[in-house]
Amino acid sequence: IPLAGVIGSPVAHSRSPALHGHWLRVNGLRGHYVPLDVAQSDLREVIRSLPRMGFVGANVTIPHKEAILDIADVITDRAALIGAANTLSFRDGKVYADNTDGFGFMENLRRGAPGWQPSSGPAVIFGAGGAARAVITSLLDAGVPEIRLANRTRARSDALRQEFGTRVTVYDWVQAGNTFDEATTVVNATSLGMVGKSEFRVPLDGLAPGTVVTDLVYTPLDTAFLIRARELGATTVDGLGMLLYQAVPGFERWFGTKPVVDDTARAVALGK
Ligand code: ATR
Repeated sequence: IPLAGVIGSPVAHSRSPALHGHWLRVNGLRGHYVPLDVAQSDLREVIRSLPRMGFVGANVTIPHKEAILDIADVITDRAALIGAANTLSFRDGKVYADNTDGFGFMENLRRGAPGWQPSSGPAVIFGAGGAARAVITSLLDAGVPEIRLANRTRARSDALRQEFGTRVTVYDWVQAGNTFDEATTVVNATSLGMVGKSEFRVPLDGLAPGTVVTDLVYTPLDTAFLIRARELGATTVDGLGMLLYQAVPGFERWFGTKPVVDDTARAVALGK
């Protein structure tokens, strides 16, 4: 029976076991997907042991997404670009590391905003952390002409421009509300608006109707950022789909069936 799991610490809050368990059930597949709480100091040893225990792969989450790159034998280009991996496959005695966050981000927008064309205009991204890196790489790959980056700590967005090149332009955080001219995509990749965190306060008045706006925060599902964007005529897509779609490639590789992202899967991921 194929085994897979999610490796993190802490990992008890992860919705991945429920989601993959749901997909195994509805597809009538043999297999198990378990949470694995692994300390940093044990990571290498655990990864090496998993294949011998019947594991075909694993997801990797905080705090191991970067460190796993030093352990894996083969790293995909997109994982190397993002500097982190979230999906492992164990094959032929090797550990393959991939990053499906960008895929999840793109797939969520493509499904949630049919007709969306990333190449149609500049994209605005708020935030410059790990999540922003995945969004930047996937948007650049999709042919976005310009990425306008605004982050509270300017040095972090400057570093991303250094790394990803001149299609990335940097704005001061206090100018974040003045980035919307001609923009066709706007992304909140900060943790602002998340339950228990500060509110998202960047003024959105400059948003043009029809702009595709998404929030990586999905607790709450409908954030103040998305509600305001909708008031201004934007097409909004919530962030839960990114979580669901990033899980699809791993499940398909490990268990051999492409799982469906539908309302039931969404409810499972939300713990309902
Ligand atoms: P992740 O991997 O989810 O991106 P992260 O690397 O901790 O997590 O990044 C969190 C993002 O939210 C960062 O862009 C952070 O801004 P800083 O780089 O200045 O820390 C942003 N963020 C968090 N709290 C914020 C706040 N109160 N105001 C503005 N930005 C905030």
